Amino acid sequence: MFWLILCVVVVDVLLASFEVTVPNKHLLAIRGRPAVLGCEFTPDPDLSNLVVTWQRQEDARVVHSFYYQQDQLDRQSLKYHNRTSLYVSELHKGNASLRIAAVRPKDAGWYMCIVSNTKGTGRALMQVTYGALYSEPRLSIHVNSSALKVQFETEGFPKPEVIWLGEHDQNLSYHLEIHGQTEDGLYFIKSICEAQKPVINITFTLKNHLLNQNLQRPVVLSYDEDTTDHMIIVLAVLSVVCILLVIVIIWLAVQKQNKQRSSL
Ligand SMILES: *[C@@H]1O[C@H](CO)[C@@H](O)[C@H](O)[C@H]1NC(C)=O
Ligand SMILES: *[C@@H]1O[C@H](CO)[C@@H](O)[C@H](O)[C@H]1NC(C)=O
Ligand SMILES: *[C@@H]1O[C@H](CO)[C@@H](O)[C@H](O)[C@H]1NC(C)=O
Ligand SMILES: *[C@@H]1O[C@H](CO)[C@@H](O)[C@H](O)[C@H]1NC(C)=O
Ligand SMILES: *[C@@H]1O[C@H](CO)[C@@H](O)[C@H](O)[C@H]1NC(C)=O
Repeated sequence: MFWLILCVVVVDVLLASFEVTVPNKHLLAIRGRPAVLGCEFTPDPDLSNLVVTWQRQEDARVVHSFYYQQDQLDRQSLKYHNRTSLYVSELHKGNASLRIAAVRPKDAGWYMCIVSNTKGTGRALMQVTYGALYSEPRLSIHVNSSALKVQFETEGFPKPEVIWLGEHDQNLSYHLEIHGQTEDGLYFIKSICEAQKPVINITFTLKNHLLNQNLQRPVVLSYDEDTTDHMIIVLAVLSVVCILLVIVIIWLAVQKQNKQRSSL
């Protein structure tokens, strides 16, 4: 009886002594950049029995696997082809971290790190969130005789907060269009603010809270008075030409009448 209990305790201790942990349960991965999914396990210098498998929790898709002391990628999901690697030289230290190159939107989700070696088997779960920095906003300005519209366009992920501020930091009303995710998983943002002439001093602000991105793009426009001066000169010249025309027409008419009278 004593030996049985001792045996159970020893087995328990052995099992408890093997652990797989993830240092970050949540990882923020940024579009186009590499992401390192950390995973640690109780090391065993003998790698011959080591099996490391990274898989997606949602559908058990294989992200990366390693056994017989090398990468085994036959069953790897095509979505991860050529993009994953382990730090092989770190495995004997108990580091089974996975590197994913050039993060894509569909990389977001739950990942399971499963490790077994002579000391035991274990697993740990972590979540990867995806974000994309908004691109440099493209400015365009539309003018008509009474109003002026300032427009910015940009792409990123997730949905941003948009604010337009006036000269005295007051909130301005604006139009905002958010077009659904494109195939590369980005939101297309178009925002228009209508401004009053003649002096425009407004600031477009876009915040991607997930990535702490804060873009501020001021637009300052003033109307050169020269344009008005030119208009006045053009109008004056036109008026003079008109008056001269009218005089010539009247003079011709009078001449004609005189001719008719003298011919009678
Ligand atoms: C992976 O890389 C190999 C060699 O570098 C290349 O031939 C293959 O087309 C790549 N596959 C994908 C899906 O990019
Ligand atoms: C594992 O190794 C990689 C590469 O050296 C390193 O960046 C990472 O921090 C290590 N992870 C852990 C959990 O030690
Ligand atoms: C100028 O644009 C504003 C805003 O789009 C519109 O309400 C207005 O009718 C336009 N005026 C003219 C003369 O086209
Ligand atoms: C525009 O307004 C800001 C304050 O919101 C001010 O600091 C800046 O000098 C103004 N620019 C011009 C050209 O008036
Ligand atoms: C402008 O709007 C933002 C959010 O919509 C708000 O946080 C801010 O306090 C407002 N500022 C002013 C001056 O009303």
